[in-house]
Amino acid sequence: MSGARKRAAADAALAELRSGQRLGLGTGSTAAAFLEALAEALASGRLEDLAGVPTSRATEVRARELGIPLIDLPADGVDVAVDGMDEVDGALNAVKGLGGALLREKVVAEAATRFVLIGDDGKTVGRLGERAPLPVEVLAFGVARTEARLRALGLTPTLRGGATEPFLSDNGNPILDAVLPEDADLPALAAALDAIPGVMAHGLFLGMADVAYLASDGDVVRREADA
Ligand code: A5P
Repeated sequence: MSGARKRAAADAALAELRSGQRLGLGTGSTAAAFLEALAEALASGRLEDLAGVPTSRATEVRARELGIPLIDLPADGVDVAVDGMDEVDGALNAVKGLGGALLREKVVAEAATRFVLIGDDGKTVGRLGERAPLPVEVLAFGVARTEARLRALGLTPTLRGGATEPFLSDNGNPILDAVLPEDADLPALAAALDAIPGVMAHGLFLGMADVAYLASDGDVVRREADA
């Protein structure tokens, strides 16, 4: 996805924001484009008195560089969370987590009154898992057992980074990238994953997004979840 498309989607998503709101700030290159768009809107006075909850250390560092005020996640949540995705289907169900921030992203998205996805139209799929693996953040303790539980659900997991030098999330947890079976019943799979004690979070964001801004060349399409 070109930088111009990311920025176009980010700029369009500013329409979801109002001065005085508390925001969830996503992670990834498209979310980084949104930080730039947000910083410019604050600098120009188009938006005022906003504060954001970063979903990763990388987003926190970049937001500080851009002068975006940051807060901890308030007990009563945030007004709007804006984030990228790895895949999105026609109902705005999404796979997230290739950037490794899925746990904090899900905590913030769940706490948001409105959850806004931004990205390239090319991330639209007919079936989640079609192109991207499903990231599953797991506890390092008992990882072999958790991996076996995933296999029993029909998934094919791979430890991100490999056994010698596994990738660790900002929470210090490894991530299993799991290939989904073509016939996966996604709501049932999400519930089954949620019930495994060693699973900290999975990248299925089902029924969470309210709206998506999807950029193609020269155009950004706004799609509502119930459209
Ligand atoms: C981060 O953990 C992910 O959920 C990202 O939102 C996702 O990987 C999209 O990243 P890009 O905007 O860089 O494609």
